[in-house]
Amino acid sequence: MATLLLLPGDGIGPEVCAQVRRVAQVLTPELTIEEKPYGGTSYDQHGTPLTDETRDAALAADAVLMGAVGGPQWANAPRHLRPEAGLLGLRKAMQVFANLRPAYCFDALADASSLKRDRVAGLDIMFVRELTGGVYFGEPRGIEDLGNGQKRGVDTQVYTTGEIERVARVAFELARGRSNRVASAEKSNVMESGLLWRQVVTALHAAEYADVELEHILADNCAMQLVRAPKQFDVIVTDNLFGDILSDAAAMLTGSLGMLPSAALGAPGKPGLYEPIHGSAPDIAGQGVANPLAAILSFEMALRWSLGQTAKADRLLAAVKAALDGGARTKDLGGFLTTHAMGDAVIARL
Ligand code: IPM
Ligand code: MG
Repeated sequence: MATLLLLPGDGIGPEVCAQVRRVAQVLTPELTIEEKPYGGTSYDQHGTPLTDETRDAALAADAVLMGAVGGPQWANAPRHLRPEAGLLGLRKAMQVFANLRPAYCFDALADASSLKRDRVAGLDIMFVRELTGGVYFGEPRGIEDLGNGQKRGVDTQVYTTGEIERVARVAFELARGRSNRVASAEKSNVMESGLLWRQVVTALHAAEYADVELEHILADNCAMQLVRAPKQFDVIVTDNLFGDILSDAAAMLTGSLGMLPSAALGAPGKPGLYEPIHGSAPDIAGQGVANPLAAILSFEMALRWSLGQTAKADRLLAAVKAALDGGARTKDLGGFLTTHAMGDAVIARL
């Protein structure tokens, strides 16, 4: 029997994960759900955002679904014990190098976007963000005291051929099941790692994926095109930092950050890490008004990508669409439903 590890974490994480639990009880009663402390909450209880026990449970599960990590109360914790360090540590431990971040616009929400309806209606982009390399993990890093009243902060952007190739492969494979187009975003005009990125993607494309349409795009231009004419994109593959930034911009096109799920995948057969991309939203935490759909849709991705339950994933996606078509809206979507009531709206359509 499959096991889902829930890591509710901080801020609105526990509230949205509670709705995932309710949905799972209806849709997949056979699924075993475990729960472990994580993030700032774990730091408060155990002195670390990621205990060995939580990490081991994640590696042993079939899929891991987290709510969110972080909040102002941990701003002064040492960097390696901050909630975000727990997230990066978990990504690294699970070796989930490919982060799938879909940005699709539900028709019922096209008017909630900050762009005009005709620019976003029918939008369906899949970001493939490299997740375990680049400047997030590169060495050396640190802040050094230069002794003359000055300090020097260093981060290192670094990629190897293998790291680029494996994530580009995921993008090409995904594109084949979609509109067969990949845009690869980097800054090869100024960065060595960007130049290598372009070379490796070009070589892999020529060797194995010549049937897929490939476009190289500079990351800054990609940002501009995303808000100018986002529907030109199908799959966008990019590095860890550009992927972080570009996927946030794309998320807003869809109406609300509260809508978008993500999946972080590693080698086939290894557990995936699923998370709503909205973060912990400390400003509304504990009020019961957060939109649980990003978390529920992250569960949908887990069913699809880790749990081998495509039919149930389809059912869940249809239920979310039907709830939105029926007018179900949380505050972020201009409505008044509570987190729990939005959960009800989805469950009613299951
Ligand atoms: C994300 C978040 C994380 C990141 C933070 C919380 C470390 O912004 O998942 O996009 O930068 O990767
Ligand atoms: Mg981010």
